[in-house]
Amino acid sequence: MARHVAQGAQAPRGRTGEPAELWPGQSVALLKALHILTRDGQLNADSRRKLKQVLHLAQLIAPALDWAFETRPSPVLADLGAGKSYLGFVLYDLYFAKRECGTVVAVEARHDLTETCRRIAAESGFDRMRFVESAIADANVEGGVDVVTALHACDTATDEAILFALRHDAKFIALVPCCQAELAATLEGMAGPLRQLWRHPIQRREFGAQLTNVLRGLFLEAHGYKVRVTELTGLEHSLKNEFIFAERHQRANPVARAEYLRLVEQFGVAPGLLKPV
Ligand SMILES: C[S@@+](CC[C@H](N)C(=O)[O-])C[C@H]1O[C@@H](n2cnc3c(N)ncnc32)[C@H](O)[C@@H]1O
Repeated sequence: MARHVAQGAQAPRGRTGEPAELWPGQSVALLKALHILTRDGQLNADSRRKLKQVLHLAQLIAPALDWAFETRPSPVLADLGAGKSYLGFVLYDLYFAKRECGTVVAVEARHDLTETCRRIAAESGFDRMRFVESAIADANVEGGVDVVTALHACDTATDEAILFALRHDAKFIALVPCCQAELAATLEGMAGPLRQLWRHPIQRREFGAQLTNVLRGLFLEAHGYKVRVTELTGLEHSLKNEFIFAERHQRANPVARAEYLRLVEQFGVAPGLLKPV
């Protein structure tokens, strides 16, 4: 899928006196409330990186939002492990605010972050944003969800996001996984010739993350999704840069399921939450 901008938004271009990263029409007041922009409207190095990631993701999922607004009477996007909800707020501002339907639901385990986000949403008049204080594993959105996003959801929270998407029959899933510790820890004790691949801690961490994401992709394919894996932004913006984009096109794919099982058998490890049915 080529870079694409949803009908509700426009391509990134700077505005006079404002950082060039901003999209036309993007709310400066919102970005200040989120502390992405300083009080005098500037970006520091950290917020520039975060804004870049969020806007790249906003652009990459635009076709999913176009589809949702064209085919659903009131589309629902769920952002999981939302943190300060930068992504949810920016998506609402760019795609939802100017329409009269559609909801953004942010799921976050931390009470303080959820409360702050509720306040910012109320002050911004974003009345179709909802904030659910919950573990992703326990969250349920009545009526289903069309698009799921999870940007840097820690470790196995990305797997919880995958199961949430399946539970809610999401058509599109956009994941940018975070640090990945689970498989690295299991690999440490594994014997056999393949162990040379993860002999040193840094190799275990990298290989564990690589294997986890490969298995995540296959798991989604086994559940009938078409999966594309690309990079989100340049590595200079974040080391956690793998973008997994899945679109459901059938109910199941037995070939992908068999590949998943073959890989799990070969390496002897699998993400604990991703049990093939
Ligand atoms: C690294 S931050 C990323 C936040 C945000 N998505 C972003 O990119 O700015 C991960 C967030 O996920 C939340 N989190 C981690 N595990 C979670 C879980 N299982 N359920 C809900 N939230 C979780 C953390 O509290 C934290 O706010």
